[in-house]
Amino acid sequence: MDRPIAVITGATSGLGRIAALDLARRGYRIGVVARSRTRADALVDELKPVAGDAPIDVFHADLGLVSRAHRVGEEIAAKYPRLDVLVNNAGLHAFSQRTTAEGFAQMTAVNYLGAFVLTQALTSRLAASAPARIVNVASEASRQVTTIAPAEDLLNVDAYTRRESLPLYGRTKLMTIMWTQELARRLDPGEVTVNCCDPGFNATGLGRDLLAPRSCSAS
Ligand SMILES: NC(=O)c1ccc[n+]([C@@H]2O[C@H](COP(=O)([O-])OP(=O)(O)OC[C@H]3O[C@@H](n4cnc5c(N)ncnc54)[C@H](OP(=O)(O)O)[C@@H]3O)[C@@H](O)[C@H]2O)c1
Repeated sequence: MDRPIAVITGATSGLGRIAALDLARRGYRIGVVARSRTRADALVDELKPVAGDAPIDVFHADLGLVSRAHRVGEEIAAKYPRLDVLVNNAGLHAFSQRTTAEGFAQMTAVNYLGAFVLTQALTSRLAASAPARIVNVASEASRQVTTIAPAEDLLNVDAYTRRESLPLYGRTKLMTIMWTQELARRLDPGEVTVNCCDPGFNATGLGRDLLAPRSCSAS
């Protein structure tokens, strides 16, 4: 338990997978939040050779469900006596509207609400582990947004087209940026630093909707 601990979401694909491998190489014990057991198992197989003797922990949750995001945050806090790094990376670009079982737009729920609620559940654990760090993966697509009205936007489930999807994706990322700034203001930077980043354009699974529309859930 001497290793620093990093929890990362969305590590079963793309940028999160690379980040998890890199963190493991740097000596972190890795906790992964994933919705698919199959993809999480594949990630664990990849991480094992670089993780040395450190265990790799998988926490199962669909982060598009606020209730599940909260519960998995509690599970993580109960599992780890300290937490050094939280990377909120899970995200999607939905090219048409899909709503979750809780009635939110899936893109808003995964990209913003899930991360927000997970972080809320882990903030005191991070603060007690000072110096700790939160990284939220945002996007330059936030610059596509011309207006934001959080109270309405969070609840908006209107249908949209592929062409209209980019500013809506960008709006979820602008919410992430605004939340990151507010969280950084509220937390003592001597305890927890909070940053968001744009990872640049990368060919990952993010455009998968263009090939095959997916449902909200995954096995
Ligand atoms: N790629 C780019 O050019 C780019 C640019 C700017 C920002 N970003 C941001 O970078 C982050 C990583 O994206 P990526 O490009 O690496 O895309 P990706 O390859 O599609 O990876 C997305 C990850 O998020 C997970 N995820 C999606 N919905 C989830 C849910 N409901 N519950 C739990 N996990 C869920 C996916 O899990 P599954 O494997 O189960 O699907 C996957 O591990 C995202 O926040 C994205 O918005 C990407």
